[in-house]
Amino acid sequence: MGDFNFPERIPLANLPTRIEKMERLAKHLGGPMIYVKRDDLTGAALSGNKVRKLEFVLQDALNKGATTVLTCGGVQSNHCRATAVAARRLGLRPLLLLRGEKPERCEGNLFMDGMLGAEVRYVTPEQYEAADDIMAGIIEELESKGEVGYAIPEGASNALGAMGYVNAAREISEQMHANPGEFDFDYIVHATGSGGTGAGLIAGAELFNLPCRVLGVNVCRDEQYFVNKIGGILADVRRTYNVPVEFTGDGIEIIDGYVGRGYGLNTPEELAFIRMAAEMEGLFFDGTYTGKALFALADQIKKGRFDKRDKILFIHTGGIFSLFAKCSEFALC
Ligand SMILES: Cc1ncc(COP(=O)(O)O)c(C=O)c1O
Repeated sequence: MGDFNFPERIPLANLPTRIEKMERLAKHLGGPMIYVKRDDLTGAALSGNKVRKLEFVLQDALNKGATTVLTCGGVQSNHCRATAVAARRLGLRPLLLLRGEKPERCEGNLFMDGMLGAEVRYVTPEQYEAADDIMAGIIEELESKGEVGYAIPEGASNALGAMGYVNAAREISEQMHANPGEFDFDYIVHATGSGGTGAGLIAGAELFNLPCRVLGVNVCRDEQYFVNKIGGILADVRRTYNVPVEFTGDGIEIIDGYVGRGYGLNTPEELAFIRMAAEMEGLFFDGTYTGKALFALADQIKKGRFDKRDKILFIHTGGIFSLFAKCSEFALC
């Protein structure tokens, strides 16, 4: 491990998260055994993958004397909701820059942002392209009022946030060592939206010698975008935290082709699959991230990408609240 050190972190998540089998789904698909790492159980309101990242990022905010935490994302952003919850838990004020128009109904994550009294500013998709600059401007505005603002980039997907999933890889390594012959995973599969989870898992897999390949399913943009984005975060991780491993682009494996109708949008097949998974396993996967990633994994299994003897660990990165903004699409009643 050389002189690599984890940065300081404030404990916010319920860790370690459990690893469970999805036996009925795996049997139905007729391929390898699928396990699920329950990062949806990192907390209740403060749940999902973002909590692991926020442990590092918000510690930094506290160290810098922040009074207001700013971040950005879509209207149903899990990251914005998790940031708002965590900010309030720590006595900080959340300010969210959301892409799009104020919707008629305040549902899902947006409802929770409202309950938390987060200040929400809406920007057009075009303006959102310069979200980091807008947040820098808001920080100046806050400073003029005597406040200290701290901006977190989209998805907390910078080197510091990625340390949350380096930490998760360490946890997986410990769970694998504690369960030899059972948790001997060949692959780790997860949804990728802003790249931080993937970057952390790839760096952590190298650092802790995990004998598995990390596969990210992109839920927006394309493979090339994520190879570049994750490659950039990995380079920053290496530079900033003195990680004693070389990252080659080869370690960044993206399963492309499952964005479907677009970010946050679903096909009837995806919705039917998410329902089937709930019925079979009693687990809820969301339409934007985990449901799409699991749908992609199922499709790749059906297409013969994996050996039946393989063991796959799917990371359930959370996102349940956005499902509540999709009730009508499921047309259950
Ligand atoms: C539920 C869920 N899963 C997966 C992701 C993707 O993680 P990342 O942004 O680190 O790629 C996100 C956020 O973007 C998310 O909210």
